Amino acid sequence: MQKIVRNNFKSLNGQIAVPADKSVSHRAMIFAALANGKSVIKNFSDGQDPHSTVEVCRNLGAEIIQNGSEITVVSDGKLRSYADNIYCGNSGTTMRLMTGVLAGQNFDSVLTGDESLSKRPMKRIIEPLTMMGAKIQSDDNRAPIRISGQELVGIDYVSKLASAQVKSCILLAGLFANGVTKYTEPHLSRNHTEIMLKAMGADIVVEDLTTSIKKSKLYPIQIEVPGDISSAAFFIVSALIVPDSKILIKNVGLNPTRTGIIDVVEKMGAQIRIVNKKEVCGEVIGDIEVEYSELKGCEISGDIIPRLIDEIPVIAVLATQADGQTVIKDAQDLRNKESDRISAVVAELRKLGADIEETSDGMIISGKTELSGGVEVDTYNDHRLAMSLYVAGLICKKEIY
Ligand code: S3P
Repeated sequence: MQKIVRNNFKSLNGQIAVPADKSVSHRAMIFAALANGKSVIKNFSDGQDPHSTVEVCRNLGAEIIQNGSEITVVSDGKLRSYADNIYCGNSGTTMRLMTGVLAGQNFDSVLTGDESLSKRPMKRIIEPLTMMGAKIQSDDNRAPIRISGQELVGIDYVSKLASAQVKSCILLAGLFANGVTKYTEPHLSRNHTEIMLKAMGADIVVEDLTTSIKKSKLYPIQIEVPGDISSAAFFIVSALIVPDSKILIKNVGLNPTRTGIIDVVEKMGAQIRIVNKKEVCGEVIGDIEVEYSELKGCEISGDIIPRLIDEIPVIAVLATQADGQTVIKDAQDLRNKESDRISAVVAELRKLGADIEETSDGMIISGKTELSGGVEVDTYNDHRLAMSLYVAGLICKKEIY
């Protein structure tokens, strides 16, 4: 599909709600399938990835009834084997979390994905799961993942990666393993799994960067999924870079492990305010008010990276409109997303006229530059690239294709 972006409007003004959080939707679906009883998930994401998770859970025997954005899940807490391949589509979260769940079942499974997912690294989960006693076969640690369900034992695992998918995979395997499973990460990554599992009765303890879990039964959950801050990010950046804009984004999930973008834009000088903050099901939710601002560059590195990992492409767009240098470091895992988001962002923003340089673990952007546009850009079939380029298109002098 080819989309033409024009810059034929003056400003963004008004109030919006963004799509439901994908990470929370995936987890609510999987954990509901593992719980004994009836769970109700309101405002479930209508994105393709969470729907891959719905289909996977259906394949594995959960009864799932969808009524608009509300999903009811009825399960006896036991998964059943599926005779065919279990297709995870484009969704790394589905594949990595479900591998953790399926490794400790008393049946075998094969997880497959689309072309992009089949290229993504799975060693990060296969290695620790194997240490737990899992039997997993793959071609060079890529999907298809062939799992021979085994009795697992807990491990004390210190990960080099700050990845919520890896952490969640191991914690889910720990839910079915004998003994204690302990997982330590180098920086805090999103913690929706820990919050939700705790709320559903799992025997889970979090101490700083270490989480311990024991074999547990889950109670069903009633949850309303908040708006996705990763989707809000595109509107935050749009309002910040299009003159005279002022918008209110309602009901956004503001879990501190996800709000790196707010901290960064504040540091860059953005006029942004959080209002109506409240807590629902252990997750912080609020409204974000943001307006066009004069910005300055800054350094983005270290602990904050996992708190804004998915927002880096659109932050790069923002940085083209900030005075001075923005240096993004420690983000090498961006090369393992739906595309190599470092080289893709650099190549495409450069085509639009940005002053941007690739580094091994990030990029350096110098601003403020006028984006000329008038060219064709590539989305690499990566939704976050497509959205970020769309946002850039809002301020290009000429339309982009
Ligand atoms: C996700 C974790 C992040 C993120 C992805 C969703 C999750 O991936 O990029 O979009 O829901 O756990 P990593 O764990 O690989 O960093």
